[in-house]
Amino acid sequence: MKLTYFGHSCFGIEINGLHLVFDPFISGNPLAAHIDLKQVNADYILISHGHEDHVLDAEIIAKRTGAKLISNFEIINWFLSKGLENGHSMNHGGKFSFDFGTVQYVNAVHSSSMPDGSYGGNPGGFVITPKESRSSFYYAGDTALTYDMKLIGEQETIDFALLPIGDNYTMGVDDAIRAAEFVGTSKIVGLHYNTFPPIQIETEKAVARFSETGKMLLLPQIGDTIDF
Ligand code: NI
Ligand code: MN
Repeated sequence: MKLTYFGHSCFGIEINGLHLVFDPFISGNPLAAHIDLKQVNADYILISHGHEDHVLDAEIIAKRTGAKLISNFEIINWFLSKGLENGHSMNHGGKFSFDFGTVQYVNAVHSSSMPDGSYGGNPGGFVITPKESRSSFYYAGDTALTYDMKLIGEQETIDFALLPIGDNYTMGVDDAIRAAEFVGTSKIVGLHYNTFPPIQIETEKAVARFSETGKMLLLPQIGDTIDF
């Protein structure tokens, strides 16, 4: 698996030649100005919740690539009402098998409204189990630390987790460390930090805090690709 970071909470993952993009927010992020939106490959676009910093570029990428959107019922209906045709709606706790593997939409503690103010259902995260793999990865979306994460750790073997670490709107570093413990992984990719002033963090301190608890916090540069 290859993971490319596109800034904020957006990244692409290539699984068996299929491209998944999570929470596309590139054109609105000055830190990602060097990313060419037209070069972003997508067969699937997974959206955790309705906030603009997670959905902004979903429509433009989906229209260019024909990618299938995967999100909650309300968010998929919102995109369908805007003229997109390829969507798959889920709700919390549900699993579905796609050609790249299985997706479970799991709980997040946050809010979810669409950029135009309409109702965006309840926010979520995703547990992805690639085809023919016994282990999974967890994308938390925007969320507080919640005991529900323990269920994920009990039910799945999580190889790595993508967790928000920027605080203020989501978990900060210390709660993200506990979240990693709850889901049972020591390999974390940090998201949702430094994009806006309220989520500015000291990244070296964050890496050191994770390291003190025996965990590795990966903070790829925007545009970098890492292998898993
Ligand atoms: Ni949000
Ligand atoms: Mn957000």
